[in-house]
Amino acid sequence: MAKPRVARRKTPQTIQVSAGSSSYPVICGAGALRQLRGLITWHVGVGPIFVLSSRQVWNFCGPKIQRALHGIDVSRVILFDDRESAKSLRMAEALCRKLIRAGARRDAILFAVGGGVVGDVAGLVAGIFLRGVSIIHIPTTLLAQVDSSIGGKTGVNLPEGKNLVGAFHQPRLVICDPELLSTLPERDFRSGLFEVVKCAAIADKPLFEWLEAKPHGISLRDTQELMKIIPRCACIKARLVNKDERDSGVRATLNFGHTVGHALEAATNYRRFLHGEAIGWGMLAATLVAVALDELESADAARLMRLIVRVGWLPTLPKIPAAHILNILHRDKKSREGMVRWVLPVAIGRAKYGISVPQSVFHQVWAELPQWAVRCREEQRWETKRR
Ligand SMILES: NC(=O)c1ccc[n+]([C@@H]2O[C@H](COP(=O)([O-])OP(=O)(O)OC[C@H]3O[C@@H](n4cnc5c(N)ncnc54)[C@H](O)[C@@H]3O)[C@@H](O)[C@H]2O)c1
Ligand SMILES: [Zn+2]
Repeated sequence: MAKPRVARRKTPQTIQVSAGSSSYPVICGAGALRQLRGLITWHVGVGPIFVLSSRQVWNFCGPKIQRALHGIDVSRVILFDDRESAKSLRMAEALCRKLIRAGARRDAILFAVGGGVVGDVAGLVAGIFLRGVSIIHIPTTLLAQVDSSIGGKTGVNLPEGKNLVGAFHQPRLVICDPELLSTLPERDFRSGLFEVVKCAAIADKPLFEWLEAKPHGISLRDTQELMKIIPRCACIKARLVNKDERDSGVRATLNFGHTVGHALEAATNYRRFLHGEAIGWGMLAATLVAVALDELESADAARLMRLIVRVGWLPTLPKIPAAHILNILHRDKKSREGMVRWVLPVAIGRAKYGISVPQSVFHQVWAELPQWAVRCREEQRWETKRR
């Protein structure tokens, strides 16, 4: 089994993103945050710093960040509600108003310190405030370190759907330090693992096999283990963003599981599922669709489904009619000319995008989905007992 190449590196690794006219480094490494002052000076320059974060995150991570700034002053720390249900235009407006009242001007440097919600809202604010200011992402969840902080997608939700208002706004610098994850609640950590499985499933067979081979399920709180995963997923994301910044082609493969996942989040008012959990269900659904369309062999589907279920507990699916989910899917950004475009796995480590799926196939998969999840979990239980 091939091991992730980055495992032996001790110093932070730099992954360069070159998207359109922006180019910036993603610095990944245990202790990378301690280089913050030098990294800002080198990659961003000088300007008044405005932190956007949440109370919980800033309580845990604020002291470390202030130490790492080493005497550089923070003009203002603005804390906001980072629940998914608060990821709204109203929140973005409130933050813009707080920034202007705090004296922020075009030379402001925003620091987004938090998970994907903080990053998405702060990113949008950076894109629209005074027609755009600089932003540095310091992601503090696994999901944000492997995915959301990289690539410049920003956005907020509408009641009609997920991330329906947003903009592309690339950061100037991203710092992924796994030491910041030590205080992350277990459920949020597992939510990020679903995105790790997604990356492996679409683009990295050796990583998939490495995750599969872990004997006691996936539990990677250990910094060394995290360093096998974070830079690797960050590389996948950077590679796809470099090829297709605006998500009109190959970047779309990163949406594996997101067609149904986003619809589930919207159908449950962003309260029942964490993002990664909804994506877990979405990946199960897309895998079943791929089998139904003969795009994926059932042996590979079984492996995919087993690994997804193995990440951990998924909140049960509420009874939502298939027609309601289809309605939401048609409003999704990923649909074109009334057709929903799916990302389907075609082998372990490979996915196809832009595939239209007949409604009858979706109806059948939607009806079978809860049973399949139970079946995979049962199998898993037996396997664990045998070991
Ligand atoms: N822009 C993109 O490309 C992209 C990609 C994937 C996901 N997303 C978005 O990311 C969001 C999900 O992000 P998430 O999974 O990071 O969840 P999150 O931002 O909701 O954070 C999860 C929880 O963990 C807390 N937290 C964060 N860091 C912590 C730490 N170090 N210690 C203790 N508590 C901490 C937060 O306060 C929050 O309660 C979704 O809105 C999703 O749409 C965006
Ligand atoms: Zn996602």
